[in-house]
Amino acid sequence: MWRFIHLTDTHLGSMVDGEWNNRFLCTMMPEVMRCLRRDLAKLRPDFILVTGDIASHQSRDAVFAARDLLDSLGFPYYPMGGNHDFPSERMREWFIEAFHSHLPGGDTVYSFTHKNLHFCVLDAWWKWRDDSLCPVAEQSFHDPAAISMHGARWALPPHEFAWLEDDLAAHSGVPAIVATHYPAIAIPRRLRRAGLRDAGHLDNGDILVEMCRCHPQVKAVFSGHVHMHIIEPLDGITHVITGSMPEFPCEYRDVRVYDNHIEIHTCSLSDTSFAGRSLIPNRDYTAGMPEDRNVVIPQVFPGDDVVQRPHSQRDLHA
Ligand SMILES: [Fe+2]
Ligand SMILES: [Fe+2]
Repeated sequence: MWRFIHLTDTHLGSMVDGEWNNRFLCTMMPEVMRCLRRDLAKLRPDFILVTGDIASHQSRDAVFAARDLLDSLGFPYYPMGGNHDFPSERMREWFIEAFHSHLPGGDTVYSFTHKNLHFCVLDAWWKWRDDSLCPVAEQSFHDPAAISMHGARWALPPHEFAWLEDDLAAHSGVPAIVATHYPAIAIPRRLRRAGLRDAGHLDNGDILVEMCRCHPQVKAVFSGHVHMHIIEPLDGITHVITGSMPEFPCEYRDVRVYDNHIEIHTCSLSDTSFAGRSLIPNRDYTAGMPEDRNVVIPQVFPGDDVVQRPHSQRDLHA
């Protein structure tokens, strides 16, 4: 067995707290990262997959402070950007400058193979009000103090679908995980309730799901962004969406890769006071239901017994 950690929405480098579904306590993150460093030292993961919203404040100092805090965990990690990392050209430049040595090929879209698993990391773009796609946000989302980006939309650009298609075809014999900051699916009905704040999902997530279905080696899609735990098996693909570290329940996922299956376990910090500080009474739904917290993905490495999913007639490059 080997393991990696799924960590997301760390929102580092910010001196501003706020409220989403629970208190959103960015200022406690240096303390949280010290606790996480101690906790991960016991798990000894091969690496950490950090699915975006790594920094919160829009400044070069914040991006580099975020990089230093991730470095301090003491394990290799693979970063990707979220809406808080990539609202502007300057933030994109600072992200690449800070995380260059952690980005295979120096790009924000990349793949890598670790032992018996292949990983494809995507970088969705902003969908402007005129429906055009752009790597940066419209000016109204450039406010450095903005926590909420209400009304923003994101989608994967066509050239990334082409890249993903080629990459998956070139690694068809290796079980794969796709990672994207924005979930490919909406928050399931079973987790919705009055007053729930929903940050949204990929505008063209259905195309991503369809492409993954056409490549049966894709076993899971890992995401963040909505600041709640969701695990949703759908058409042979397990969607693993993990909550934000500065917001209740302040947890991460321990992903254990065995010879023929993968187990996903949700882990609390050893110091549970961080989660207690963030929780607003009756809003513990961000921790998900029992099925959103632990899951087994069976038969990931079944040799010749791979069950082929039916291919869609849909033109994936449309
Ligand atoms: Fe976030
Ligand atoms: Fe986000």
